[in-house]
Amino acid sequence: MNKLKETLLIEKLIEISSGEKVSFHTPGHKFGKMFAKLKCDRILENLTIIDTTELTGTDNLHQPTGIIKKAQENAAEAFNSDETFFLVNGSTAGVYAMIMSAIEPGNKIIIGRDCHQSVINALILGDIQPIYIYPEVDVQNGITLGISPEKVEALIVEHKEIKAVLITYPTYYGIASDLKKITEIAHKYDKLMLVDGAHGAHLGLSEKLPITPMECGVDAVVESTHKTLPSLTQSSMLHIKGNRIDREKLRFMLRVHQSSSPSYILMASLDLATNIYKEKGNYLMDNLLYNIREFKNRIKNVEGVTLLDEKITERNSVEAIDQTKIYIKLRGILGSRFEQVLRKDYAIQMEMSNEKGVLGITSIANEKEDFSKLAIAIEKIYQNYSKEQNSEGTWKSLITNNNCYLYSTVPKCIYAPRKAYYMKKKPISLKKSVGLVCGESIIPYPPGIPLIVAGELIREDTVNRIQQIKREKTKLLGMKDTNMEYIEIIHTNEVK
Ligand SMILES: Cc1ncc(COP(=O)(O)O)c(C=O)c1O
Repeated sequence: MNKLKETLLIEKLIEISSGEKVSFHTPGHKFGKMFAKLKCDRILENLTIIDTTELTGTDNLHQPTGIIKKAQENAAEAFNSDETFFLVNGSTAGVYAMIMSAIEPGNKIIIGRDCHQSVINALILGDIQPIYIYPEVDVQNGITLGISPEKVEALIVEHKEIKAVLITYPTYYGIASDLKKITEIAHKYDKLMLVDGAHGAHLGLSEKLPITPMECGVDAVVESTHKTLPSLTQSSMLHIKGNRIDREKLRFMLRVHQSSSPSYILMASLDLATNIYKEKGNYLMDNLLYNIREFKNRIKNVEGVTLLDEKITERNSVEAIDQTKIYIKLRGILGSRFEQVLRKDYAIQMEMSNEKGVLGITSIANEKEDFSKLAIAIEKIYQNYSKEQNSEGTWKSLITNNNCYLYSTVPKCIYAPRKAYYMKKKPISLKKSVGLVCGESIIPYPPGIPLIVAGELIREDTVNRIQQIKREKTKLLGMKDTNMEYIEIIHTNEVK
């Protein structure tokens, strides 16, 4: 038989990822290098064999009694939980199940305004009303910082009816709030403490990292194992502590939000990641933190480099920083361009960029030489760019002073996210939209805090800010009209 032509996706993906690429992005296994290094690549060699279904002996994720039950128990021991659930539809499914099993429709939850879209979507699915809390913002770095425990307490006192508090810990950039204190406050008022820990699956590997949500005593945390530990993309875990979470409801919601044919490849990779975590994790993390320290010490000497480092813990809302995230600003080059040059000229792929800098997500699979390559690239880029174009003045003119995404108050909520989602919408000229109810969620990036969420009242400062973003050409997510002339509003006569 003739050889079948490969598909577009397979060809393209191999082309993009092959060669001597350095990965400072997810997934945490870094092109499978971790498996090869530890000589545990049987998972990859046997991919088609272990891609199986519920047969005699293979157990069932939704009612485990055999190998999956044992693997989840091993994970619970490794990650210090009372019970751990494997997730095969990413942390997204875990966030849905956690929130929807903990909070009944019509009830309220305090959430960080900088939460991931999966949290807002869970509120739409579960008909839950958010009470937002603003994180502190670092305007110079263009990132969000932590959530202050005092603000959480004040909001609980103001909204006694809320059922739970949910924060992101750590953030994409590695910022950790004082979760222990926030948890004590939530529990003092008999509220559940839930955590979106998508970026923190690795935290338990070193005392030099922020303490884990389980150590802080939270009731539930969802962690994207695939992002920062060596498991395959889309494999995550949900850890539970104590008895505040109704486990039967949680099991039901996990069945609702996850496939009835869960991937055995993903489950096997979670089991493997657990073993690596237990057996080699501390040692590999010590090496990683050493390599990061050396790298930072080296590039600190490059004129024009600014790093997000321990100093950030001096800010009120920041308890600790996860050193495995590296955020670098280089004077003279915008974040997006910096990211592009690293990729094209140095074969180094970062996780993402914002206007001001680039973010790298490292893991225990990164090698010393990855950091040397990055340091050399940064030194060269700075030499080229500082000569070529940018005096301090020009650089400043490239960077916007975008501190006006900060409202002092959250826009008034007229319709809860679910109601707003199902209502009819229509576009209206942005200039005429003040006083109407917004029909889309608009998120300037950075810092990723929604300017307005569907169902909230459009104010004059909302319109001014959108116009400013248009002038500055800052990235904006969520607006249907990409020209930013029209805004979707809720089409109703009931507007108050
Ligand atoms: C803070 C946060 N929470 C949840 C998620 C969803 O995780 P997953 O991609 O594992 O579904 C993400 C994804 O990037 C995230 O950044």
